[in-house]
Amino acid sequence: MSATARLIVRRGRPGEPPSTSLYEIPYTPGASVLDGLRYVRAQLDPSLSVRHSCINANTCKECMILVDGKVEYACTARLEPREMKLEPLPNKAHLKDLVTEIAPPDERLDHALAARAGVGA
Ligand code: FES
Repeated sequence: MSATARLIVRRGRPGEPPSTSLYEIPYTPGASVLDGLRYVRAQLDPSLSVRHSCINANTCKECMILVDGKVEYACTARLEPREMKLEPLPNKAHLKDLVTEIAPPDERLDHALAARAGVGA
């Protein structure tokens, strides 16, 4: 019998009542939590929102989430053959599911568009 990782993922958008989804995925030794989330999106639920860019290089910092209540990079946190609770960062603006606004305010598109239009952002 192969091992399974059980990912309990906080879902939803701001203003919606929070919900969770449980995904049971095959555990592979050495796999990251991000590998598991990418498996979920590819094989089980493409509606799950997760942000990442560099994929396991630990340079973009876009994959930061809470793993069992602790801030982690999903690309370096190891997937484990047990239940793992995954949530968005609590101190950032929540966008959807595990995605939060991590760009500094002066680097965001809305700030750039407001500056271009001559409106303070
Ligand atoms: S995916 Fe880039 S730091 Fe994790």
